[in-house]
Amino acid sequence: MVEKHGQLKNEVFVTNKTSFCRRLFTSPRFYIVFVVFQVFFIAFFIYPGDSESYNQMLVVTNQQMEEVLFNGTTENLCLFAETGSLWNSSNPVKRPSCPIISPYLVGVKTPVVDLSIDWEDVFAKYDVVRCNGHFKPSSCQARQKVALIVPFRDRYGHLKVFLNHIHPFLMRQQLDYKIYFIDLDDDILFNRGLLLNVGFLESSKEYNYDCYIFHDVDLLPENDHNLYRCSDQPRHMSVAVDKFNYKLPYVSIFGGVSAMTKDQILFVNGFSNKFSGWGGEDDDMFNRLKFHNMTLMRSMDDVSTYKMLKHKQSHPNPKRFKLIKTGMKRVKQDGVRNLEYEILKRNEFPLYTYIKITI
Ligand code: BGC
Ligand code: MN
Repeated sequence: MVEKHGQLKNEVFVTNKTSFCRRLFTSPRFYIVFVVFQVFFIAFFIYPGDSESYNQMLVVTNQQMEEVLFNGTTENLCLFAETGSLWNSSNPVKRPSCPIISPYLVGVKTPVVDLSIDWEDVFAKYDVVRCNGHFKPSSCQARQKVALIVPFRDRYGHLKVFLNHIHPFLMRQQLDYKIYFIDLDDDILFNRGLLLNVGFLESSKEYNYDCYIFHDVDLLPENDHNLYRCSDQPRHMSVAVDKFNYKLPYVSIFGGVSAMTKDQILFVNGFSNKFSGWGGEDDDMFNRLKFHNMTLMRSMDDVSTYKMLKHKQSHPNPKRFKLIKTGMKRVKQDGVRNLEYEILKRNEFPLYTYIKITI
């Protein structure tokens, strides 16, 4: 009786199970749900990203990148589609963040100062930078977007040596960067502060940079552990220059190479536009930082070393001391906020963007 009962129970169970499976596998709804699930699975977990922008990109592997960096491969690896779609893309490809310390860093690399190097050779060597001096790593998302702003007049020999050195240096740091040279009407006395302000304003119009590095053309960083990035406070980067025996000339110096974020620049109203001729605009910037209760940051002097290219010493502006003294009276109205200028020329070269202005 018990056994019979057990058998009966078992039969009922088997019958129920079979009918459930049969109903499941013969139901069209099951197959629809199954297919929809598969589509979602592929879309989210297997497919690497936005299909359109992904196809438009030339995806470069780490190994290819290494070849480009160290063997000078001249393959076109411009990381933007010709249409510039990524530049303005609202849906960029999602890539993992680049490592905190790039695996490509080599430490000290003495800059090659060869003024006779051919332009063609420089262009061919850094064919990877194809978008007017803009480069970004292909395999990862750069930690900062950096505009490198170089005030410029007449020093084409330096420009060539500078580009030859700085491009591989910045590529090794896995930065998303672009280089701008800002020049002033030949009839107007050189004005570094004003050109740096223009560089900041012009570069900000085309990309959402995290960091602006103000860089003299005659300074070549010797150690790629000197990371071209911004910090919470403005950074003075050219700490140890060979010309000054690798020693800081004075503690408040802010000239040569310095890095500030957009917020930091806007907070102090950028540089003064009043320092025509050589000197003083960086000292005035130091006063602006102090006036706004900011602290200046510097990296270790064994890392932030620079080689300075030789050039004729410019004529110092004798009025600079008086201007420095009275600077903080003008800080609100003399700076990036109400700077007016006109663009005379804008040339997009493969390795840099050149902008010439007048005031
Ligand atoms: C000038 C600065 C310059 C520094 C180092 C100072 O006398 O005022 O503008 O950066 O010397 O050359
Ligand atoms: Mn100089």
